[in-house]
Amino acid sequence: KRIALVTGGHTDEFAISLLSADFVIGQLDDTKYDVYKIVVSEGRWVYMDDTLAVHPVNRADFTLRLRHEIVHFDVAFIMLHGIPGENGCFQAYLELLGIPYTSCDAATSAITMNKAYTKAVIADIDNLFVAKSVQIDSSERDVAEQLVTERLSLPYFVKPNCGGSSIGMSKVKSRDELPAALDRAFSTKNAGSQILVEEFVTGREFSVGVFKRGNKTVVLPITEVMVADGFFDYEAKYLSKISPDMTPAMLSPFQRSLVEEVVIAVYKRLACKGMVRVDFFLEDKTGKFYFIEINTIPGQTDHSFIPKQVRAAGMDLSLFYEELIEAAVV
Ligand code: DAL
Ligand code: MG
Repeated sequence: KRIALVTGGHTDEFAISLLSADFVIGQLDDTKYDVYKIVVSEGRWVYMDDTLAVHPVNRADFTLRLRHEIVHFDVAFIMLHGIPGENGCFQAYLELLGIPYTSCDAATSAITMNKAYTKAVIADIDNLFVAKSVQIDSSERDVAEQLVTERLSLPYFVKPNCGGSSIGMSKVKSRDELPAALDRAFSTKNAGSQILVEEFVTGREFSVGVFKRGNKTVVLPITEVMVADGFFDYEAKYLSKISPDMTPAMLSPFQRSLVEEVVIAVYKRLACKGMVRVDFFLEDKTGKFYFIEINTIPGQTDHSFIPKQVRAAGMDLSLFYEELIEAAVV
């Protein structure tokens, strides 16, 4: 099979997308698949070959003209975090061309890229809670501080409503940190005009991968995110030498089955496909499941949780990616 491994993107997650793509390419069996790394950036889509030479992609039909042939792809493996690979644009393009791909479809991706929309769609799922939040548009910047302080109590998380990898995100512990945090979230590259300010939930943070195997929704071993102070920011996610997480997490059988039941319901409600990752808190006082967000193109870097969870489940990572490809083409 000829695989377009689509990566890059228009946001500050560009570099992470490249890491994820290279990681997946390293796992794919090259006797079974011809993998072409397609790097999407604003204005330019290219195939980057092993010598790092670049060849333009024909965007009219998503083919490549190489010296001896025209390459048509059997399937696209989307490893592009953020826009346009995680918000449904690329998925819609491939749907129009009739090319199968490994992620959630265009509609699901469009909803899940928007944290506020996602919460609205899943809010009534049993045993699922969402933190109190305020959504603010950049046109409301002058009243933003007032909107937040009137409706929420400290501390807050401030983040772009359509962002990823914690880029543009801040934890705000006192009122005077709020203006800078709002400016930071509003100025995140290509993350749209809206931000979300959420009340902080005191609890343990977790993340868990979910994927579909035939008719069955499979939940991977759960990861606990352990950051001593602050929150799981970009640096902790990708730059730190020590991985601040534990897989599988120490949870009681009761907590595990609560998590599994809720994340399966989320996957189903959002009509997900392929692999996704759900981030959540378990509140200390009550044990309640607080949904943070769902990632439809979850990171696959050395530091990322899904690879660790797949291995912790006793599965072979290469076979796992293969399974995703094969599920996409049926
Ligand atoms: N947005 C990053 C890549 C993640 O969710 O893993
Ligand atoms: Mg995320």
